[in-house]
Amino acid sequence: MSFDRRDFPADFAWGTATASYQIEGATDVDGRGPSIWDAFTRVPGAIADGRTGDLADDHYRRFREDVAIMADLGVNAYRFSIAWPRIQADGTGPVNPAGIGFYRELSEALLERGITPYATLYHWDLPGALEDRGGWLERDTAERFGDYSGLVATELGDVITHWITLNEPWCSAFLGYASGVHAPGKRLGSLSSHAAHHLLLGHGRAVPAIRAAQPDATVGVTLNLYSMRAATDSAADRDGARRIDGLTNRIFLEPILAGHYPPDVITDLGEGEWFDRNPAADAADIAAPIDFLGINYYSRHTVAAPPLGSSVTGAAAGLTYPGSEGLQLVDTGADRTQMGWPIHPEGMLDVLELAHAYRPDLPLYITENGSAYPDAMVDGEVEDEDRRRYLEQHVMACAAALHKGIPLKGYFVWTLADNFEWAWGYSRRFGLVHVDYSTQKRTIKRSGRWFAAFLGGPAGGAG
Ligand code: FCB
Repeated sequence: MSFDRRDFPADFAWGTATASYQIEGATDVDGRGPSIWDAFTRVPGAIADGRTGDLADDHYRRFREDVAIMADLGVNAYRFSIAWPRIQADGTGPVNPAGIGFYRELSEALLERGITPYATLYHWDLPGALEDRGGWLERDTAERFGDYSGLVATELGDVITHWITLNEPWCSAFLGYASGVHAPGKRLGSLSSHAAHHLLLGHGRAVPAIRAAQPDATVGVTLNLYSMRAATDSAADRDGARRIDGLTNRIFLEPILAGHYPPDVITDLGEGEWFDRNPAADAADIAAPIDFLGINYYSRHTVAAPPLGSSVTGAAAGLTYPGSEGLQLVDTGADRTQMGWPIHPEGMLDVLELAHAYRPDLPLYITENGSAYPDAMVDGEVEDEDRRRYLEQHVMACAAALHKGIPLKGYFVWTLADNFEWAWGYSRRFGLVHVDYSTQKRTIKRSGRWFAAFLGGPAGGAG
């Protein structure tokens, strides 16, 4: 039985997703200021292969080739991010015309190919000058983000109509300021919750700023949500799953969609330097009405509360954020990607249903989904059957969600082309397109040809 895009609504967005620091390179041209990732990649030991985003996929110079590849794949949407330090080198003041110019040219090239731009305003590359003033721990960064968002929407509102304020604030707050595995590399325990709150407030400032600049804008935010299971039916494991669900999913979902922090999360956090002075005062701003929610879905967490005294808990078990103490993620034997992330296509339905339950009428997008595998280039081809199967199974989960009446409006593969995978450097490849980093040659993988065949794109001919 054939299964292709005709089984989905005609206006369904089919895209690929990328992020500025992971692909652009050209970090010191046209007035771009330094970002926290430029600094973090210089910290010895921070990046697995010791490399930086200085060149990455050289997309800043090769974007026309990359847009042509997207047209060959047959996508009708592209989610990319705008590098704040290209627009305001130090995070404040007037826009840098050269930075705006790059995203204008990119957007125009997309539109010429019938590809709708979906622009993320913050995918982790904070201007370094703002980090010097405290970064997301400071309330002022939220105000600056609101200003920047309004400026970008004013400048680019004629070519971009779909906006995503933040990408995965959970990662910015807790990988950036708790575990320290992402920039700015801080390990601040409960103080990291201040970053979470200010990211939410920044989103709350950006939404009205974009609408003021562009009244018909379509505005949303992207969260990384995890399917959640308890390892056993014991009360302790079930409570552990509730806690991790609260600390990863609901801590961002609920303020945005329901106008308050989850009461159980506040209770779980207990004593400590939590949040800002009075988080409730910002609740209405954070819950500014949005037009859609973007969900990045990769995996499921299976949570166990080991008996007291077990050594593999908290940080040692990969749970490095405040409130996760004493809990553990267990291996259930499910297949895993090269990232070690268990593969559960049906878990995508869990996270869609979780969001849908808060606001049944709110359009949802899968703004990222994909997998890393140790690809081999043999005779000029990458036969990544594992990635192809991963994508097919998750696309089928999208169909199941639509069948259940969930207003899912689009699906974006992470990612267009292999790129700089944050703390993993270039040692993890997620692309539909292989990149030879010594020559910058792009080669569509089998998974990319499959996606093109599914979409009816020219590159699907041999798929
Ligand atoms: C997500 C990020 C994205 C990419 C994928 C693999 O958390 O948003 O930039 O690194 O993971």
